Formats: sequence, C-alpha cells, structure tokens
Amino acid sequence: MILVTGAGGNVGSELTRILARDGHSVRALVRTPRPLPDGVEGVMGDLNEPTSLKTALDDVRAVFLLGGYADLPGALAVMRDADVEQVTLLSSRSVVGGHSGNTVAGTHLAAEASVRASELAWTFLRPSGFMSNTLRWVPQLRAGDVVREPFANVPVATIDPYDIAAVAAESLTTPGHEGRAYAITGPGSLRPGDRLRVLGELLGRELRLEPLPDAESRVTTSPEMPEEFDDSVVTGAVQDLTGRAPRPFADWARTHLGAFR
Ligand SMILES: NC(=O)c1ccc[n+]([C@@H]2O[C@H](COP(=O)([O-])OP(=O)(O)OC[C@H]3O[C@@H](n4cnc5c(N)ncnc54)[C@H](OP(=O)(O)O)[C@@H]3O)[C@@H](O)[C@H]2O)c1
Repeated sequence: MILVTGAGGNVGSELTRILARDGHSVRALVRTPRPLPDGVEGVMGDLNEPTSLKTALDDVRAVFLLGGYADLPGALAVMRDADVEQVTLLSSRSVVGGHSGNTVAGTHLAAEASVRASELAWTFLRPSGFMSNTLRWVPQLRAGDVVREPFANVPVATIDPYDIAAVAAESLTTPGHEGRAYAITGPGSLRPGDRLRVLGELLGRELRLEPLPDAESRVTTSPEMPEEFDDSVVTGAVQDLTGRAPRPFADWARTHLGAFR
C-alpha cells in the first residue's frame, strides 16, 4: 500500500490517478472527504497532528510526503513505528545552493533534514516552479486582459505537476531511488510573458503582461523566492526517470483551459 499525502493537490491528485491506473494499492490522505479516482481509498488525517496519521498508515509500505508541516519529525516517527519503509518527499529546487534564510528554501531544507534523520529510506523530488502557479492569474484574467506579474524577466523551467507525479510514482514503485535527490524540470525555460502568450493563443484573447517594478515584486513575493535562485536550467531527469519527455506548458494550459475561461 502506498499513502499519498496532499492527495487533493496539484501533484497528489495526479499521483493517486497514476498509481491507481497502473494497478498499485493506493490510499489518499484527506482532511475532508472528497471524490477520489476509482480504486483509491480515502482516509482522514492531518499532517500537523502526527497521531492522526496512525489509521492511514495501516499496512503502508511507502509514503508520498509534502513538507512544511508543524511536526514533521513527529509524523516521520509515527511512520517508522507503523513499519513504513520508504518516503518520497516533495521538496523544491530552491534548496540547491542552500538559501536557508529564505522562507521557502528554509522550509524545504528543514523537511529534507527531518527525513534524512528519520532512518526511513528516502528520495527527494526537487522540482522547479509549477506550471499550475499560472492559476494565480485567474482572478486578473476574469477582470480583464492584463496580468501584473513580478519577475517578468526571470525565466523558469516550469514543470507540469503531472510530470512530478510521474517521477514520484517511479520512485515509489521501482527500485534504485533510495538516497537520491532529483532536480526535475519541464522541457523549456519560460518567462511569464511566454506563458501568457501561449494562454492568449489558446483562449483567443489578446493578453498583455504588465511587469511589476522589481521593488514591488520583492515586497509582494520575497518570502517565496530566494534572491539568487536560478530556476531556469532545464534538466533531463523526467526523461531519464520516466522514459518520455516532460510535458510542455501548452499541454498543461490546454488541459486546464477551463479554469481560465
Ligand atoms: N508551486 C511551486 O512552484 C512549487 C515548487 C516547488 C515545490 N513546491 C512545493 O510543492 C508543495 C505543493 O504541492 P501542490 O501544488 O501539489 O499542493 P497544493 O495543490 O497546494 O495541495 C496541497 C495539498 O495538501 C493538503 N494539505 C494541506 N494542509 C494539510 C495538512 N495539515 N494535513 C494534510 N494535508 C494537508 C491539502 O489538502 P486540502 O485539500 O484539505 O486543503 C492539499 O490537498 C508544497 O510543499 C510546495 O512548497 C511548490
């Protein structure tokens, strides 16, 4: 049995679908009851309350884990006591370079340290920025054709959560991933304006990017982005681990176009 935490999220929902499709026994940790793919069992639990995980961990061999919760060492101890063997942690590429002073990088560094100290076999997934972050534009696109966006000149090798999930599934169901940290990216490096152009073409709308001044960008998003963090370099990890190229942004946008209409 594989337990997927964050099973209603961008990555976890794709992962439960992939594991169920491929015939694996999969359980979804949820905080409130929700519809799940056929064959997926939902169990209630809260990552901030380690003891609430006990029922969900019954018979579980491997866990897909999100970091950043109140007592991760406590949750990992409950997993070890439940005879879990293996954890795949959804970390972030921002940990490379070790910007521990930054909120996001520091959170993921702490999560990785907790998992390393847990004595469970581990794999770290260190994805670049998610294509699904584009959903943050939905309110602006409802209001008009202009998107105001920070870091307009910063290219990011954005990745489809589906590809993160595909790599997670590999790490949870095939041998050889213990003690490995995978920097996973999409197929190309895109600036916000590139993503907006693709969206506009698919929607048949003339959309315009209005860059936020750098100072304003820092104020609004500095906790989220380490200052010297370069998320633009494309890696071949998705291809190497899944045997196929990562999905381009246009594919993600086409799949989620309904959210932007
Ligand atoms: N966005 C990026 O560009 C990026 C880049 C690198 C790494 N990351 C990391 O990726 C993770 C986000 O992944 P995602 O996009 O799949 O997440 P998401 O779509 O925001 O979903 C988060 C999921 O976690 C669940 N959750 C929240 N609090 C919980 C708790 N206390 N106990 C149990 N479950 C809880 C939520 O459940 P409910 O439905 O009940 O709320 C939801 O299903 C974060 O750790 C983030 O730091 C993000």
